[in-house]
Amino acid sequence: PPRKRRRVDHMPFLASSDPIRFPIQPLSRFQGASASIKRPREIAYFSYDENHEYREDDSGISYYCPPQIGANLCDGFDTFRHYEDKEDPHLNSLLRTLVSQEKRTGERVQADFVTWRGMMTKIMTAPFDMFAAFDMFATLHDGTIYIEEDFETRAAERAAESAANSRGPPRPPNRHQPDHKMMTYWGYKFETLSMLPDTPENTSQDFIANRPKAPVSNHAQHCSIVRTAFGSSSLILGGEVDGLSDPKPSNPDLPIPWVELKTAEELPLRPQHRDILKYERKLLKFWAQSFLLGVPKVIVGFRSKQGVLRSIDVYETGKIPGMVRRGTACWDGNVCINFAAGFLQFLKDTVKGEGVYKITLRKKGGVVEVCKVQEKGTGDILCSEFLEWRGKG
Ligand code: A3P
Ligand code: MG
Ligand code: MG
Repeated sequence: PPRKRRRVDHMPFLASSDPIRFPIQPLSRFQGASASIKRPREIAYFSYDENHEYREDDSGISYYCPPQIGANLCDGFDTFRHYEDKEDPHLNSLLRTLVSQEKRTGERVQADFVTWRGMMTKIMTAPFDMFAAFDMFATLHDGTIYIEEDFETRAAERAAESAANSRGPPRPPNRHQPDHKMMTYWGYKFETLSMLPDTPENTSQDFIANRPKAPVSNHAQHCSIVRTAFGSSSLILGGEVDGLSDPKPSNPDLPIPWVELKTAEELPLRPQHRDILKYERKLLKFWAQSFLLGVPKVIVGFRSKQGVLRSIDVYETGKIPGMVRRGTACWDGNVCINFAAGFLQFLKDTVKGEGVYKITLRKKGGVVEVCKVQEKGTGDILCSEFLEWRGKG
């Protein structure tokens, strides 16, 4: 029978402990050389197909082939097939893949933490993002801490954001003001213009030339699961990868040539300090997201305010922190890494007992709070398939 999550938000009396706090400031305690980190190694992968159904294969891998400059990223908006999770995905696809990996190899996948890459991106970037906010749930099971997003809180925030976006005095339809939905579309349109389902060598020129007419959908995905480490904490992270710039090497010791695609507004001809600051703040997110899965290249499509693709820049992920250090120095990659290492150690010291813990950072709060919200069990963080398999040992 499906287990129901207790609506902990509305049952504060369930809290058995006062929150335990991890202040973000002062950052001076995270400065200096970065904590020992390991290059992420892929241990497993999975895909979602065109119906967003799980597949334990590499069918969702795409290949990069530079797009045509001048394309209008608004084209095809009317036929966008937009996938959004309606139900809480928990860690299910990640755990499902780990279970079949263990069944296949006969070896137990062991780490201090298992979570989605997105949770770690939020943690890593928090020191340099005043507006960072997150709500997560964590549970300790057999020596591993599993962390998931608090889906309901996130969904409520999204609904509030989109309500705020459509409120206000009625505006006449204005072609100079692309809305939120259109701006989200641009990111996926850029992917469709830049990727192929096979290598460029194995793709016909016709297919490549017709990419601007191809329908845009974000249903299909490919996710890489890696083992990595921050200081004294080992992690298993799962996350979406946009595609490959070259075929995957058969030697598992070599890095995988993944690419992360991003769009950004082009800089003005003579950028002011504030323009560069805005862009370099964006680079923090691009870098952290790619760094965590070991994605070696970030490809940025610069667009006009109206969504016309103007140019492309390719960055080596490892060089982004140095660029920003020599630029506005608005963030420091070593501090991000040391902060994450310190925070994970704090979680190991805090998420020690049974039950479910909530991890919260409020906007401009400056302090991450951890508080027990359920005394026993693992909530819905661990799916029954995983618990049954691990129970059997
Ligand atoms: P951009 O990042 O170019 O804006 P990702 O870059 O992580 O592969 O995601 C692909 C696209 O999904 C993004 O392209 C953006 O359009 C959309 N997207 C991802 N995360 C989003 C978020 N939190 N809010 C709105 N759109 C998002
Ligand atoms: Mg992506
Ligand atoms: Mg992307």
